[in-house]
Amino acid sequence: MNGSHQHSLKQLNRNERKMSRLSRRITDTAAKSYGMCDQAAAFAAQSDLIHLELGRPHYDTPQHIKDAAIRALQDGEVHYSDMRGHAALREALARKLASGNAIHVDPDQIVITNGLTQASFIAFMALLNEGDEVIVLDPYYPQHIGKIEIAGGRVVTVPVDAGAGFAIRADWIERSITARTRAIVLVNPANPTGRVYTQGELEGLAEVAIRHDLVVISDEVYECITYDQTKHISIASLPRMAERTVSMFAFTKAYAMDGWRLGYAVASKEIIEGMSKIFTSEVTHVNTFIQYGALAALKGPFEPIQAMIDADQRNRDLMVRQLNRMPHVTCEMPQGSIYAFPNISRTGYSSQQLAEQILASVHVAVEAGSFYGAAGEGHLRLCFGAQSYEVTEEAMDRLSRFFAALPVARRD
Ligand SMILES: Cc1ncc(COP(=O)(O)O)c(C=O)c1O
Repeated sequence: MNGSHQHSLKQLNRNERKMSRLSRRITDTAAKSYGMCDQAAAFAAQSDLIHLELGRPHYDTPQHIKDAAIRALQDGEVHYSDMRGHAALREALARKLASGNAIHVDPDQIVITNGLTQASFIAFMALLNEGDEVIVLDPYYPQHIGKIEIAGGRVVTVPVDAGAGFAIRADWIERSITARTRAIVLVNPANPTGRVYTQGELEGLAEVAIRHDLVVISDEVYECITYDQTKHISIASLPRMAERTVSMFAFTKAYAMDGWRLGYAVASKEIIEGMSKIFTSEVTHVNTFIQYGALAALKGPFEPIQAMIDADQRNRDLMVRQLNRMPHVTCEMPQGSIYAFPNISRTGYSSQQLAEQILASVHVAVEAGSFYGAAGEGHLRLCFGAQSYEVTEEAMDRLSRFFAALPVARRD
């Protein structure tokens, strides 16, 4: 290509940028929320495709929750409700937060949102100024990255300690803090690693946040999904953390209500006021009648919820046991969430190469670890909550065959 051609191409790109009707907020954001889903969709015609790439519960929402929403709809609960959410729901949530999370708040400090997705978006929008840095533990949940960027923030990734079961290293976090650091994002239980952070790790993180006057934006979407009596601790319950934490939860995973789009955020009155400003401008409030379903979910019965968690645990045990039998694969036992995060670095292939090969040859969709950040490379993420036991078993049989036949890549 000659010089003048290159010059005119550059000019063209510049003109195209100038002509874009989109805001820089959009054109300058690399936000992407889906990894292997698109490629798996191309295989959708394969009737034997098994999806393990998405974190979508395969159960139906328990009947008593559906009934309550249907009843509310039939009873005429079809009008505008309180902006921050139905008062009875926020009162029930305040009681749940006190007894289940040791977070003591007034119902006015809660806003009901369209899933945790919206809670985190309005948190970033309310808290970040242009150029503010946000520390994100790597591997991370990719959706947070795009939202921070759209809100004008700059993502600073800090790895967790892969050699110590993906534990938080508060000293590594502290080393990344600058004058522009404004917040730390915590996902606990973690996606994609499945780690449930210990009291000691959370205290270390809290000390750093307090010392540097940072806000912690705490995604606890998997709070109820822990195994082997592992206890989930909300960081806002630690001393002096409530005032500087935005705690976010959802009905999404544990209650199999992902399509309902119901979550909530809890923070100091000042922060919730700020978040509500964004939220009410955007959607006014969450659908009125579905909030009655959430109220029923909080009232119980809880047996159907526990049955789903028990089934997830059986799937987890099966998946991790099988993965550890496959050549070149090792997998730690996740203590929470619905994901296994096996290490595949000994195969010599990148995680993206492997995910693509697995999809093409045995028709199982898994996610590449690199989708979750640089520290995720060398791993795959498989959702053990996405399929029944029998289908998970079939997927593991296919993966066993795949790894048994895989030639180890040459490392030059
Ligand atoms: C860590 C994490 N946060 C948030 C979400 C999205 O939650 P919701 O569907 O309630 O918006 C997910 C979904 O997979 C997730 O894994």
